[in-house]
Amino acid sequence: MHSMWVKPLITVFCIIFVSEFDMEKVTILGIESSCDDTSAAVIQDGVIRSNVIAGQAVHERYGGVVPELASRAHQQNIIPVVHDALKQAGIAKEEVSAVAFTRGPGLLGSLLVGTSFAKGLSSALDIPLIEINHLQAHVLAHFIKEDENDRDQPDFPFLCLLVSGGNSQIILVKSYSDMEIIGQTIDDAAGEAFDKCAKVMGLGYPGGPVVDRLAKQGDPDRFTFSKPRIDGYDYSFSGLKTSFLYFLRDELKVDPDFIEKNKEDLCASLQKTIVDILMDKLYRASNDLGIKEVAVAGGVSANSGLRSAFEEYSLEYGWKIHIPKFAYTTDNAAMVAITGYYKYLDGEFSQPDVVPYARVSI
Ligand code: KG4
Repeated sequence: MHSMWVKPLITVFCIIFVSEFDMEKVTILGIESSCDDTSAAVIQDGVIRSNVIAGQAVHERYGGVVPELASRAHQQNIIPVVHDALKQAGIAKEEVSAVAFTRGPGLLGSLLVGTSFAKGLSSALDIPLIEINHLQAHVLAHFIKEDENDRDQPDFPFLCLLVSGGNSQIILVKSYSDMEIIGQTIDDAAGEAFDKCAKVMGLGYPGGPVVDRLAKQGDPDRFTFSKPRIDGYDYSFSGLKTSFLYFLRDELKVDPDFIEKNKEDLCASLQKTIVDILMDKLYRASNDLGIKEVAVAGGVSANSGLRSAFEEYSLEYGWKIHIPKFAYTTDNAAMVAITGYYKYLDGEFSQPDVVPYARVSI
């Protein structure tokens, strides 16, 4: 071939090669097994393709999650859940670019199931393994796109109120990977306050959603419960739980049917107190730091009272608020997959000898 053709041909070849490479989609399979939900999800270039969650009804009769039973249920659920997630996404496992899994925090036995499965799959498919911090994943759930045109993601920096059964934190989110906890509970989490007070009223487990449902028919100003006085942006909920317990104990002495007769008002007043406590510190942080981009995440973000409070603050103080879709509030693998997507882009991969951790900060 004449040498004058060689250079243009190489250029054309490079353009074709690079554009082919560019077109290759990043497909992340996420696996979540930190507590009592087994979940698998597929995210492709940041867009959700599937998010399958198998709950565990086995704990209901015990009034809380039994760790040993949770691990066993994860073992039973993990293969069908991953299978369904791939099927719903229309993705063959050979198309997966990397496997992201929740490394912690959570229940060690539960985490072991997801971790072991992810390790096995990444090794069998010879693709990268990506460990995910569960709390970081809750925050990054806001970046899951419903479709290619979804532009409803928060701008950095933003504040995220992370409220779940195990956490109540205000997080300053500076980038996908740079997050700082600026306030957190010094004792119980907000979800625990909902659940423990609900348990005292005999409302079953988890009580948060039941309190929410009953609160809709009750008067939030009927009863007043104590609010903590804590410095800075930290929270405390153990005092509220005790004050609620003592209040009921005294009222039940007078009228044994007090709870039954007043449960809607009790739930509404309890919910209002918890929401007020959460919003008060969040408002302070927003005001002090001059950040009006504010998000909420975690299981308690499903609470209708908290969601309404966000809407009110948005109108009153000009907050640009971000409330996750219901499916991304409780534990789910979509948030694990989206976090895995950003770690994949940064080339942050885990070694095959990675082990889960029960406790870890963000
Ligand atoms: O994030 P999550 O699913 O699990 C972890 O803690 O990791 O959060 C579960 C918590 C439970 O305490 C549950 O009662 C609470 O979220 N929760 C609610 C609502 N839905 C779930 N709390 C209040 N109102 C709700 N609608």
